[in-house]
Amino acid sequence: MKFLVTGGAGFIGTNFTRFLARQGVGITVLDKLTYAGRRENLKDLEEAGLIEFVQGDICDPAAVAKAMSGADVVVNFAAETHVDRSIEDPSDFVRTDVEGVRVLLEEFRSWKKRKLFLQVSTDEVYGSVETGSSREADPLCPRSPYSASKAGGELLAMSYFHTWSVPVIVTRASNNYGPWQYPEKLIPLFVTNAMDGQELPIYGDGLNRRDWLYVEDHCRALQSVVERGQPGRVYNIGSGEEQTNMEITTSILDLVGADRSLIRHISDRPGHDRRYALDTSRIKGELGWEPETDLRRGLASTVEWYKANRQWWEEIKSGKFREYYRQMYAGRLADSKEAGR
Ligand code: NAD
Ligand code: DAU
Repeated sequence: MKFLVTGGAGFIGTNFTRFLARQGVGITVLDKLTYAGRRENLKDLEEAGLIEFVQGDICDPAAVAKAMSGADVVVNFAAETHVDRSIEDPSDFVRTDVEGVRVLLEEFRSWKKRKLFLQVSTDEVYGSVETGSSREADPLCPRSPYSASKAGGELLAMSYFHTWSVPVIVTRASNNYGPWQYPEKLIPLFVTNAMDGQELPIYGDGLNRRDWLYVEDHCRALQSVVERGQPGRVYNIGSGEEQTNMEITTSILDLVGADRSLIRHISDRPGHDRRYALDTSRIKGELGWEPETDLRRGLASTVEWYKANRQWWEEIKSGKFREYYRQMYAGRLADSKEAGR
């Protein structure tokens, strides 16, 4: 098998590319290197000749044709992924997460050697789930511009299966965490803020719930889908380890050894989904996948990774991220202090 991994310089893409490279398969990475993509994550693999790196946009047919040449499996991670940014401006989300998927599929459709197009989607497409857990056949009810664009992308992908028999599989994973996660997301933001003695801005009451999946477990799940998944099918991928944001935050503070007084309740994310939860019996029953890293162990090793790789995240947080952080948080933190929250 020869893989094209799109978005391979982002968080999950980096972990998946490194996971594949350990198995000695041929890999081309196509990545635009947006603010979230970091080529240096894969530098050692590139230097060792284990991957070919192509910088390019999945919305650009010429770049896609070049990168896809020789590949029989495409794993599409490339996306705009941060809900808060999608609320500020949805345009890049629609462009990459829908139109980019179409461009990839058009090239793949013309490709004779094609084996599988794996569209990496998200549990957010089900919308907020107050009770119980989402099954693959449940209706989609995305509620943010991010999740709506991801829903558009995966529906388009599946339409290529039905219309042109393109072998497409869609996966819907829960909240990933682990090494190389960009520090705009809850866990790396709070770990690095806590390490620097900075406030941890919790949205609203902090009782929103998420299912936390260690990224290596996600990579193993994707491998089992590539090897044994059935085209035309959707697979949920989750750990079943559900926690409120307050619970995760106090665990982070304990692991870092920082004080709980760093917690600040700030104004909520508009349309904030209260809870996601997945029924994962399909991937477990049909493909024999099980998560292996529990949250306690995964979170501890993630904190260790951020301690050992300070240079990686300090470089990010000292650049354009500063302006992003100021814009997203400064006013809300000041309001919260004034209100004594
Ligand atoms: P990320 O934001 O860390 O990385 C996204 C990558 O895509 C970056 O390297 C970026 O440069 C690249 N990219 C963005 N636009 C591109 C374009 N137009 N052309 C080429 N490359 C482009 O994202 P992540 O958290 O690693 O998520 C990867 C995928 O997994 C996404 O599709 C996301 O929707 C999905 N997902 C993420 C999670 C999670 O918890 N992080 C959970 C479920 C599903
Ligand atoms: O569920 C899968 C999804 O998980 C992925 O598809 C998305 O790409 C990924 O970003 C993630 O979405 P969330 O919105 O759940 O992740 P985020 O890390 O942004 O937020 C997790 C929870 O923490 C959520 O309830 C919002 C809250 N939060 C987040 C940030 C960044 C805060 O309370 N404060 C914060 O500063």
